[in-house]
Amino acid sequence: MSNSLSHPGHGAKHGLRLVQADEPGRAATVIETRHLAKRVETSEGSLHILSDVDLAIQSGETVAILGASGSGKSTLLGLLAGLDAPSSGRVSLAGVDLASLDEDGRAALRAQKTGFVFQSFQLLPSLNALENVMLPLELGGQSDAEALARDLLAKVGLEARLHHYPRQLSGGEQQRVAIARAFAARPAILFADEPTGNLDLATGARIIDLLFELNADQGTTLVLVTHDRDLASRCQRRLVLNLGRLEAGA
Ligand SMILES: Nc1ncnc2c1ncn2[C@@H]1O[C@H](COP(=O)(O)OP(=O)(O)OP(=O)(O)O)[C@@H](O)[C@H]1O
Ligand SMILES: [Mg+2]
Repeated sequence: MSNSLSHPGHGAKHGLRLVQADEPGRAATVIETRHLAKRVETSEGSLHILSDVDLAIQSGETVAILGASGSGKSTLLGLLAGLDAPSSGRVSLAGVDLASLDEDGRAALRAQKTGFVFQSFQLLPSLNALENVMLPLELGGQSDAEALARDLLAKVGLEARLHHYPRQLSGGEQQRVAIARAFAARPAILFADEPTGNLDLATGARIIDLLFELNADQGTTLVLVTHDRDLASRCQRRLVLNLGRLEAGA
C-alpha cells in the first residue's frame, strides 16, 4: 500500500517511523490475520475448516462475510474475536497479537473493545431480558446500567418484554436481546453472526438501521456474517468463504 512517508527522500531517510494510524485520512487496522488456519480432529480425520486466511479490516469499516452453510463463517468470527484459538497463523485485534495474551487477557480485551452477537444468542437463561443487557454494563462499572439497558431494549422493539426470561422469548426476540447486549458496552468493534437470521423483513430492516447508525455515530467497526442480501449490500466490503478460503466478493 502506498504511504507518503515510505517514498524515497521522506521518513525512513530521516529515521522517522512509518506512521499509519495517525496519518490524516488513514484509519488504523483493527483486525488483521496472517495465514490463519483452523483444523479440527474428527473421528474421520483432520477437518480443515479455514486455510491461509489473510485479512485486514480498518477502523470504522463495515464488512460482510458470506458463504454457504458450513463454509466456516462462524469459526472465522470466533477466531477474529479471540473466542477460539487458531491451529496456525495469527490474529491481531485492536493492535494486539492475540497469541501474546492468556485467556484472561483475551477476555479483558474482548470486554474492552468488542461486542459479539452469537448465532445461537447465548443469553443467560437465569437472567431476564433487562438483566441480560444490564450485565455487561454493570461489569463495566456503568452506574445507570438499568436506564441504558431499558433504552437499548426499546431501540430493538422489546420495551414490552423486559422481564421475560430467554425461554419465554421467541427466537427473534432473543436475537434482539443479544443485539442490545452487544451494543451495551459501546464496542469499538461489533461482530455479529447472522444478526437478522431470525427476524421478519421489517424487524430485520430496523436492526440493520441500528447497526449502521452505530457505525455512523460512533465509528463502530462492523464485521457481520450474513445471508441477508440487503445487509450485505449496505456493507462497504463483502468477503466470501469458499472451501475454507476467503475471497473478495462482488
Ligand atoms: N469443533 C468442531 N468439530 C468438528 N467440526 C467442526 C467444529 N466446528 C466446526 N466444525 C465444522 O466446520 C464447518 C464450519 O462450521 P461453521 O460453524 O464455521 O460454519 P458456518 O459457515 O458458520 O455455517 P452456517 O451458515 O450454517 O452457520 C462445519 O462443517 C462444521 O460442521
Ligand atoms: Mg454459522
